[in-house]
Amino acid sequence: MGKKKVLNIRLCSGMSCTTRGRHKLASLLGKYKANGHESIKYYTVDSPCAFNCEKGPTVIMNGDLHSGVDEDKLMELLQDYEEILEME
Ligand code: FES
Repeated sequence: MGKKKVLNIRLCSGMSCTTRGRHKLASLLGKYKANGHESIKYYTVDSPCAFNCEKGPTVIMNGDLHSGVDEDKLMELLQDYEEILEME
């Protein structure tokens, strides 16, 4: 098997994103990673405020900032990024 591709996921842990449901995203990611693609290495870290507070929860994936991320949107993003990584 080749080298694993990397999906870096930074969850904003600032006050605004936390009150908007960041913990639900963290929980979903924890479960998702356990069953994710075996060719992809998922790195998830907490991130300080991304200065996007009014549009949170904010998630940064491989350097791209995403606003208003709820659980459904996070699932879509994960699938989109996995598709892109699989094609590289
Ligand atoms: S608290 Fe998340 S962008 Fe500021």
